Amino acid sequence: MGKGFYISKPLGFVLFGLGVGAVLTIFALSVVYSQEKRKNEVNARDGTRMVTTAAPHSTSAPSNEPWDKYRLPDTLLPAYYNVTLWPRLVPDEQGMYIFTGKSGVALTCVKETNLIIIHSNELNFTLTSEMHHAKLAGLGGTSAPVILKTWFQIQTQFMVILLKDNLQVGKSYWLYMEFRGELSDDLGGFYRSQYTENGVKKVVATTQMQPTAARNAFPCFDEPSMKAVFHLTLLHPPGTVALANDIFIRHSCSDFPLDTENVTIDDQEVLQTRFEPTEKMSTYLLAFVISEFTNLRSPSEANVLIRIWGRREAIESGQGDYALSVTFPILKYLENYYNTTYPLSKSDQVALPDFAAGAMENWGLVTYREQSLFYDPKVSSNEDKEWVVTVITHELAHMWFGNLVTMRWWNDLWLNEGFASYVSYLGADYAEPTWNIKDLMVLQQVQRAFGVDALVSSHPLSSREDEVITPDQIDQLFDTITYSKGAAVLRMLSEFLTESAFAKGLHNYLHEYAYSNTVYTDLWKKLQEVNSSIQLPASINEIMNRWILQMGFPVVTINTRTGIISQQHFLIHPDAVVDKPSDYNYEWFVPITWMKSGSNMGQHWLLTKTASYEPMKTDTDWLLANLNVTGYYRVNYDPQNWERLLTQLTADHKIIPVLNRGQIIDDAFNLARAQIINITLALRTTKYLYEEKEYIPWESAIRNFEYFFLMFDRTEVYGPLQTYLQRKVKPLFDHFKVITSNWTRKPPRYMDQYNQINAVSMACKTGVKGCSELTRMWYRQWMKNPDSNPIPTNLKITVYCNAIAAGGVEEWDFGWQMFKNSTIAAEAEKLLYGLSCTKEPWLLNRYLEFTIEPNLVRKQDVAFAIVYISGNVIGQPLVWDFVRANWEHLTKDYDDGSFFFGRLIRGITRKFSTEFDLQQLQRFKEDIAASSFSFGTQAIEQAIEQTKANIKWVSENKVQVMNWLIEQSA
Ligand SMILES: *[C@@H]1O[C@H](CO)[C@@H](O)[C@H](O)[C@H]1NC(C)=O
Ligand SMILES: *[C@@H]1O[C@H](CO)[C@@H](O)[C@H](O)[C@H]1NC(C)=O
Ligand SMILES: *[C@@H]1O[C@H](CO)[C@@H](O)[C@H](O)[C@H]1NC(C)=O
Ligand SMILES: [Zn+2]
Repeated sequence: MGKGFYISKPLGFVLFGLGVGAVLTIFALSVVYSQEKRKNEVNARDGTRMVTTAAPHSTSAPSNEPWDKYRLPDTLLPAYYNVTLWPRLVPDEQGMYIFTGKSGVALTCVKETNLIIIHSNELNFTLTSEMHHAKLAGLGGTSAPVILKTWFQIQTQFMVILLKDNLQVGKSYWLYMEFRGELSDDLGGFYRSQYTENGVKKVVATTQMQPTAARNAFPCFDEPSMKAVFHLTLLHPPGTVALANDIFIRHSCSDFPLDTENVTIDDQEVLQTRFEPTEKMSTYLLAFVISEFTNLRSPSEANVLIRIWGRREAIESGQGDYALSVTFPILKYLENYYNTTYPLSKSDQVALPDFAAGAMENWGLVTYREQSLFYDPKVSSNEDKEWVVTVITHELAHMWFGNLVTMRWWNDLWLNEGFASYVSYLGADYAEPTWNIKDLMVLQQVQRAFGVDALVSSHPLSSREDEVITPDQIDQLFDTITYSKGAAVLRMLSEFLTESAFAKGLHNYLHEYAYSNTVYTDLWKKLQEVNSSIQLPASINEIMNRWILQMGFPVVTINTRTGIISQQHFLIHPDAVVDKPSDYNYEWFVPITWMKSGSNMGQHWLLTKTASYEPMKTDTDWLLANLNVTGYYRVNYDPQNWERLLTQLTADHKIIPVLNRGQIIDDAFNLARAQIINITLALRTTKYLYEEKEYIPWESAIRNFEYFFLMFDRTEVYGPLQTYLQRKVKPLFDHFKVITSNWTRKPPRYMDQYNQINAVSMACKTGVKGCSELTRMWYRQWMKNPDSNPIPTNLKITVYCNAIAAGGVEEWDFGWQMFKNSTIAAEAEKLLYGLSCTKEPWLLNRYLEFTIEPNLVRKQDVAFAIVYISGNVIGQPLVWDFVRANWEHLTKDYDDGSFFFGRLIRGITRKFSTEFDLQQLQRFKEDIAASSFSFGTQAIEQAIEQTKANIKWVSENKVQVMNWLIEQSA
């Protein structure tokens, strides 16, 4: 699936000290929300919804019956399916949206059996003949055994067919079924999405099969290794277009489907579109979309038909133009990188108004959230654009890696997703060569993975096949480790093999395993074959197993006085206890690249816990390791070397590569959190920032200071912290004023466009003169002329926030009006955040009241709005009172997802750091336990843990930090 399960949507990158945490997982929120909802539904109706024949065995008792196991037996293989589906885009008499279907599957028996077990979930079967739900026939003249009994196993999502006699090995059979299902709005399986166009409601029927929802659309062998060919036919209302993985059978030069015909079924006029048979593929990659969308298409010189689909209004206003213009170059790049032509005849990409993840790589028919495919230069920011190009590359990278060659089972999901996440930067770099986007991998993937992977609650990248069985276990794999750590370790591998050797191995891998399934060791094998000449200290298998089979990563300590290097499992909480044993004893084979005083470079493998390595010994040079942070580890040094690095930063920071300037700051702050080095050493890595103009070091510093703001913004440390940062950021603010000709132009370099956001938001936050005036001036201009917003798109979030903070009710009310009038989601979100910045308690209280009026703020945004307000130092206590006072109301209105409360509780307690906070939280927990609304108790437990950790951190660091900051301004 597309990024977005875990990565921030664009807004996340630029918020400082406030709503960041909340926005980071907005996509994840909606996914989990809908899954949560689905789960509740199933539970509520367990046993009644789909069963038409009682199961012969209880579904809850553990049993050894094949239908009680979640995995399919190895007796049958599907060869091809014929599927006809007919979604109704208007509700039936009961107000339900439904679809009906007929499907047949040709299966081959590979082990004698008298059972057919096939996935089917939430489908009702039409009784065909003799009380059976299915018909079985022999293919090619064989006769099929008689069906004795058919039933459903709700828990394992199977339809089970018991036969009178055995199926014969080597023979093929045809299993045929008719069924109906609900076209619900839960964003999974075959579902509906809605939007309004010119005041008319439009319904779209679309799909999201990954990981285990193809079985909700039609009965199928729903495991990734059960590849088959699909012959699909869709019935749909006149005026709509049907899309599927393959092209509809058509005239070669026209879009007009040759094989769409008018048919009359049950007295209804419908269109029937038949599609070319697909390639041999996995069920989770199937997709169909029925809509009134229009499209943009590629220039005719492209050998592949490329189309971008979406709402007519969006397409006609040019929002799909950017996606269209980058798709062809990205496909070319990938064909070249993999040295393999695009496997299909067309590439459709569809933007859907309702979509759970960021995007989904259905083979030949990629589906997106509108924000992941559409880009409007007038309102969208750089990040929005970057998001589009990287998501498109991520999905297109899957067309080969994942779709052509597919993991055998979900335990190897990390390889699929980590790979696409890594390659998304390479393809985006090709499409936008001036951006230097590959550097952002360090911030967006490596540092992000470090954050989660430094906790004892982390997990290894790769799981055993038998550890991931149920749909819930599979869903849980879509996390930061899978995507970001996966990308980080593959980047490390590609770097030490060299990118060209890595790509060569990939080509051989794709070539050998096309249309089939693999495990990760198959890739290692192919890489090993082409790289036998490269000097490695061990096989790729031995090196990589240490990174993927054990959780976490090392901190490498280099003692430049003795030349001794050592490694240790890095844990952010010093008292944490690791209770998962590792076969590798939490030691890694670490590729250490290094540089001495800016010139002398080398590489060395650390293969043991401790080793001595002469070339790293020095008394005079500074030594820097993990160049460009290509290795997935942190680095610590002896105190003298730290001093030499700090001296170099102040004397001439440009000698140190820009990625490593960010690394020095990020490593130092994290080593301090883990109590490996002193907090003042970490603070000192930021002293040189008054000379720094680059984005990556600034961003690293700002992210690390975020915790300081959370802990200290209500204490006496706040003043000195402001003063310190104000001095650091003022030169940056002035620099941007110059290079933008007094804020009238965009900075020319892409990374500067990012850093301009940091400059303005930090300057305003710390009170640099001129900043507040600037943001207010822009905002006032906008208030005077609401139809033309003069604020540079990249700076909108910052400007809204600061102008509303500096203003009063007039500014707030204007922002609120604009929020309500906004038709573009990205714009509305920025305002939703900006409105939380006011300093007026009564406005904040009123805003809080507004959030729970369903016709004022959309339900999906409520938790974000409340968390944003709690990020405001004045809003924090108001939110806390508000949530406690309205707990019952909130639980009633949002009762379909305990995730909502988890998010809310974690968000609003992030600043908790005193004994008083802790007491209040504990009392709240008791109150909830005593009431009948016990949602969110687990989140409260976690918040209590976090509060205790915060109290400890503050007590250990506050005085030191305070004294150090005061010294700096002396
Ligand atoms: C399945 O559909 C294909 C293509 O329409 C057709 O040729 C084939 O006979 C069908 N198979 C069965 C068993 O109906
Ligand atoms: C399936 O059957 C159940 C039980 O009769 C019913 O509640 C449900 O609405 C049916 N679903 C559809 C899509 O017909
Ligand atoms: C279906 O019928 C409509 C009018 O009844 C006609 O305009 C349309 O061209 C027909 N479509 C096909 C594919 O025959
Ligand atoms: Zn993906």
